Amino acid sequence: MASWYDRAIIYQIYPKSFQDSNGDGIGDLNGIRQRIPYLQALGINAVWLNPVFVSPQVDNGYDVANYYAIDERMGTMEDMEALIRDMHAAGIHVIMDFVLNHTSDQHPWFQDAVRNKASIYRDYYIFAGENGKKPNNWGSFFGGSVWAPDPSGSGQSYFHLFDKRMPDLNWANPEVRLAMGDVAEFWLGKGIDGLRLDAFIHIAKADLQQSFPSNSDEPIVAEPFFANLPMVQEWLRPFAERIKADYPQAFLLGEAASASVNLAVDYTSAYTHLMDSVITFRYFTTDETGLDARLPKQYQPVPLDWREFRKTQVVWQQTLAAQPTLYWGNHDMARLATRVAHSETEARSLAMLMYLERGIPIIYYGEELGMQNLQFNAVSEFKDASVDDFVQKAMAAGKTKAAALKMVSDTHKLPARGPMLWDDSKHGGFTSGTPWLTGQLPAVASVAQQQNDKHSMLHFYQQLIAIKQQPVFQDGAFRLLNLGESTYVYTRTTAMESALVAINLTGAEVEVKLPAGEYTQLLSAGEYEQVSDKLVLKPHAGVVFQRY
Ligand code: NOJ
Ligand code: CA
Repeated sequence: MASWYDRAIIYQIYPKSFQDSNGDGIGDLNGIRQRIPYLQALGINAVWLNPVFVSPQVDNGYDVANYYAIDERMGTMEDMEALIRDMHAAGIHVIMDFVLNHTSDQHPWFQDAVRNKASIYRDYYIFAGENGKKPNNWGSFFGGSVWAPDPSGSGQSYFHLFDKRMPDLNWANPEVRLAMGDVAEFWLGKGIDGLRLDAFIHIAKADLQQSFPSNSDEPIVAEPFFANLPMVQEWLRPFAERIKADYPQAFLLGEAASASVNLAVDYTSAYTHLMDSVITFRYFTTDETGLDARLPKQYQPVPLDWREFRKTQVVWQQTLAAQPTLYWGNHDMARLATRVAHSETEARSLAMLMYLERGIPIIYYGEELGMQNLQFNAVSEFKDASVDDFVQKAMAAGKTKAAALKMVSDTHKLPARGPMLWDDSKHGGFTSGTPWLTGQLPAVASVAQQQNDKHSMLHFYQQLIAIKQQPVFQDGAFRLLNLGESTYVYTRTTAMESALVAINLTGAEVEVKLPAGEYTQLLSAGEYEQVSDKLVLKPHAGVVFQRY
C-alpha cells in the first residue's frame, strides 16, 4: 500500500526555538501555528517536533515526566489539537518525538518506584547491585557511570544511559512495553501521523553483571552491551504491529544512531514490521588527521572525510530497501553552515547533493536561511561540565579563552538550537521577551529579507523542495557515476526519465565528463559551464540536470 511518508519531505522544528507567542522567551505550539503559512510556502509536507511533553527540561524535553500532557511552557493539549488540525488543513503531517528508552526522574513511575520498594513501578526501571556497589563499569553517553544511587537509600543503583535524572525504562518488563504502546496510541488517536522513536536501539541491555574489558577504572561507554541487541527487535515488533494494525498510515521513524547499515536493513525490512525508516549518525565520518593531541577531540572542529562520506552514502543508498533519511543537521550536532559548508554556494550544493538522493529529506529549521551555530561568550552558557574541562585544557595549551569558546560554539549541540531568525526586529522576531538561549547568531539574512530576494537561500530551498517532488527524484534508481575524489556525481533514473546531479566538493575548478545525452538545467549553485559532454564546475558549484 502506498503511504504518505514514502513522499515525505520533513522539516524539523525545535519547538523551544521556533516562535514564541507569549513573550516568555520560549518557543511554543501557538508560535508554530502562526508560522504554518511559512512552512506551506517552503513546500515541505511534514514536520517533526522535538519533545513537547511535560518535562523538567534537564535534557530539553527528552526527560519526560508526563507523556499524556503538554509542557505548560509549550502550551496546552488544546493548543496541540489545534496545531494538528491546522497543520493537516495546510497539507502538513505531524510527527512527534517519542521518548521510549527513559523517563524523567520526576515521572510518577520513578517517584513511586523510589518511594516504595514494593511498588509495581520498581520493575519499570533497572535497579541492581547492593551496598552502594555499582553492578558494572559501563559508562553513560553523558559522562560518568550509567549507575546512580537509589535515592531511597536502599544501597541499590539505578541505570541511566543519559543524564542521571533520566532513568532507563526496563523494557524486559512486559508492562513497560504495553504502557509505552498505550502512550503511542494515545497520540496517534489525537491525529498525529508518525513518531520519531528516540534512542530505540538502546532499550535492551546485556547481562548487567558483565563489566566491559578495560584497563582503566573509569566508566566506559560499552555500546556492545546496550546498543542494537537482538531483544530490541523482539520487543519492538509487537509494539509496531499494534500501531500498524490500529493506524496503518502511522510513520515510524527510528533514531538508530550507531546502527550499521545491515542492522538498519533489519529495522526497516518489510518482513520485520519494525520501522519505516531510520536516522543514522553514520553518514558523517570526520577527517581527524588535523586534531590537536593536547585537547579532547570532542570540541575540535574537523572537516568531513569526503572519501568515507561517499562510500557511506552509496552503501546506504544501495542497501536499504526502505527509504533512507537524508539530512545535514539536527539538534544533536553543529549546523551545516558551521560544521561543513563554509560558503553559501557550498551549502546550496551540499543540500542538492543530499536531498535529491533516494530517500526522505529532513531539513533542520533555519538551515534554509543558512543559519549557523550561535556563538557563546561564556562557559556557563553551554550548561555542560565537559565544556569547562575542554576550555581549561585549551587554555593550558596556549589558546585564548575566546578561541577556545569559538571552538566549542562551532561544535557543540546547544548553539545549534538557536532562535529562528524571522525578521530584523529585536531578537529576530522570535520573541518580544528574552530568548531562553543566549549567544550571538553570526550574520545571516532573516526570513523577511530572504523572502524579498529571488536569489536568496530561502528561495533556493523552495526550488529544491519543489524539484524533490518530481517523480524521478521520488522513485528513480540512484547510481553514483564519477568515483573520483573531487566531485559527487549521480543519476536518478526511472523508466520514463533521467536526471543528473553534479557537485564539486573542492575549492578548485573541476571538469566532469557527462554521459551522452541532452541536458537541461533544473537548479544550480555557483557557476558552471557545459558544452555537450564537458561540464566545468567552479569551486563548490553544483548543478542538477534533466537528461534526455
Ligand atoms: C537522542 C536525542 O536526539 C538527544 O537530543 C537526547 O539527548 C537523547 N536521545 C536522549 O533522549
Ligand atoms: Ca512562549
